[in-house]
Amino acid sequence: MKASVQKSLAVLGLVLVLGLGGAAAQPAAPSAEQPPAPAPAATDPAAPAAPTPPAAPTPGEPDTKAAAAAPATGAAPAAEPPKEKAWWEKKAEEKYTYHGNYWLPPSASTTADGSDTLFIAVLAMSAFFFFAITGAVIYLVIRYRHRPGHKAEPSAAHSDALEITWTIIPTIICVLLFVYGWRSYMDMTAIPETRPENQIAVTARKWSWSFRYYNGVEDNVLHVPVNQPVKLIMTSQDVLHSFFVPVFRQKMDVLPRRYTYTWFYPTKPGVYRLYCTEYCGTDHSLMKTKVVVHQAGDYEKFLAESFQAKNNVSGKDLGMLVYEKKGCIGCHTLDGRPLIGPSFKGTWDTDVKLADGSTVKFDATYVHTAIVSPQAQARPGFPPSMPVTGLSEKEIDGVIELIKSLK
Ligand code: CUA
Repeated sequence: MKASVQKSLAVLGLVLVLGLGGAAAQPAAPSAEQPPAPAPAATDPAAPAAPTPPAAPTPGEPDTKAAAAAPATGAAPAAEPPKEKAWWEKKAEEKYTYHGNYWLPPSASTTADGSDTLFIAVLAMSAFFFFAITGAVIYLVIRYRHRPGHKAEPSAAHSDALEITWTIIPTIICVLLFVYGWRSYMDMTAIPETRPENQIAVTARKWSWSFRYYNGVEDNVLHVPVNQPVKLIMTSQDVLHSFFVPVFRQKMDVLPRRYTYTWFYPTKPGVYRLYCTEYCGTDHSLMKTKVVVHQAGDYEKFLAESFQAKNNVSGKDLGMLVYEKKGCIGCHTLDGRPLIGPSFKGTWDTDVKLADGSTVKFDATYVHTAIVSPQAQARPGFPPSMPVTGLSEKEIDGVIELIKSLK
């Protein structure tokens, strides 16, 4: 009996010690008290110390002219062969810069270090007191156990010195933890001034993310510049979701019918994970995408070139862009497999059954209705999950062309 208790205590101790060892093995985080230092991450081989970029090209008006003046660039010439992906899309397909393990991955934002320090401090203190108290209990149980001839000793009634000590020391520890935690929390929640280019609109829906940039371009990957504060303006089209980027240690709920805000200051270029961390239904676990932290200057290039690329596409190509970037891909396949919603393939120009028992021709009118008013002509066997997407007429035409090409 005693042996088995000792054995399980030993196992528990081993687990904690191993865990703490893992924490210590993480690269020491620089102090979080410093203001965001614009030093490039020296550890990342993919990040040569890039000089400050020249004045960024402002996307928007001037680029419209640039696009018109240079019609031969961008997506236009490659019409027939499989379309070459843009460099920022290839970048988003790169391997993750860090892989997770039992602990959170190394931090890549200024606010992450504060929460890491606090977490490790609380964990270390808990581990210390766990062993100290458990050890004392075991020792005292053995030392004063009942045995023949052993008389119980009277317990001490009171000790002022002891009581004052065990009141003051924990109070000091709690105050320190509170002050440090409060400062880190303020760092995380007080959003500093950000350039308009670095303010990104985030839309969450079952079960995908979309990010709208300053230039009007939407993407399903979050692109951000390194060493600049980035602000996110977030809302949901349906239920509660939650934005979480582990390397930034930044997490914020995304709510329907209201806006929430969050910010971060990325310190290391790379490709990182982005999750939904609020259970939001069937495919919650698939509601993930990537953050690309661009090296100095690349974010501006992304803004300018994605704007140009977007304005050069129409028809089926635009439909594909909408399909990939605006979340259709989360519920509809292109290969005939039904997912949350029906596949785009194989139904064009056929008669489809509706939930109310009638049949309707699957044509441009039907697709338009299905996008603009998703439940008006719902099909049986699919949940009413399709959101109102707010696609433009040009984009809807593109989707129609895409579906037509898959018949
Ligand atoms: Cu969205 Cu979980």
